[in-house]
Amino acid sequence: MNVQSDTDSYKENNQVNITKFHSDVLEGLQKKQKKLSSKYFYDKTGDRLFQEIMAMPEYYLTKCELDIFKNKKEDLTAFIASENEPFDLIELGAGDAMKSTYLLKYLVENNKDFTYMPIDISGNILSVLKEKLSTEIPKLEVVSLEGDYFEMLDKAASMSSRKKVVLFLGSNIGNMNSDEAENFCLELNKNLHSGDIVLIGFDLKKNPHTILNAYNDETGITAAFNLNLLHRINRELNADFEVENFQHYQTYDPLSGACRSYLVSLKNQDVTIENEVISFKENELIDMEVSQKFSEKEINKLAEKSGFEILGEIKDSKKWYVDSVWKVI
Ligand code: AVI
Repeated sequence: MNVQSDTDSYKENNQVNITKFHSDVLEGLQKKQKKLSSKYFYDKTGDRLFQEIMAMPEYYLTKCELDIFKNKKEDLTAFIASENEPFDLIELGAGDAMKSTYLLKYLVENNKDFTYMPIDISGNILSVLKEKLSTEIPKLEVVSLEGDYFEMLDKAASMSSRKKVVLFLGSNIGNMNSDEAENFCLELNKNLHSGDIVLIGFDLKKNPHTILNAYNDETGITAAFNLNLLHRINRELNADFEVENFQHYQTYDPLSGACRSYLVSLKNQDVTIENEVISFKENELIDMEVSQKFSEKEINKLAEKSGFEILGEIKDSKKWYVDSVWKVI
């Protein structure tokens, strides 16, 4: 996993289990509508390209959430640490905790009694983060948890019975389809107790041009980010994609809020993965990623369906992005 904040999670890194990667890729490409999972975008090159995406002027999401964590720390604190009850602050897919570090500093300065528990699939990322936090916020108590989100949430619960506050930032929930997002929130709820809190970052529906531009940059970084998965499959799964024979295509449907990326096959072609042959027709699509955008109503519905009560929301100054705060009923 890369050393930066938004690669938070729900993704695997280059320690990915090759057998699972192989079977997921084959299964996806053997479907009637060919599909690859965007969780596999994040190898070393994918991490670097995502860093470049976050730095693009068009990609507003990171800037909006950073605005919230830099400038709305009091509001965040009022939701997660209002009573002086000790708590564990758990961050799913913490990465380098770039955004949450602002909040962590503020909580420490205000003498809040809490332990920070970053969860990440990458042990390397966690040790870099621990090192960074020990210099930047020496008084902060950190317990790193390396592994799968839900297994680590379980571990966190076994380590202390304090109230849990879970951060899931970066609009990573947008990379799940609606069933996956609902199941994820239900599972989160199951792993917590009544009164525990979750804070989830959602990208809001807005002017469709703004959204499409964020994923359809003229510099081609997003295209390279998508095409990189074919390079990764070639390298790690002994495949022979001719990557120049595929082209990135991005759509945004303002009614459903789904911003989708595809790769278009530019000709009839066969690709071999180990000893399986996958045939592509000219103009056939591979469904690559959804980046779902939400209305407030849709966010509320998701919270309700998965057993949470909405405590409130904190938006950036443009009102393009929201960190929604939920309490387990
Ligand atoms: C990580 N995730 C929230 C990003 C997004 O906005 O969906 C991934 C991304 N895909 C293309 N650009 C950025």
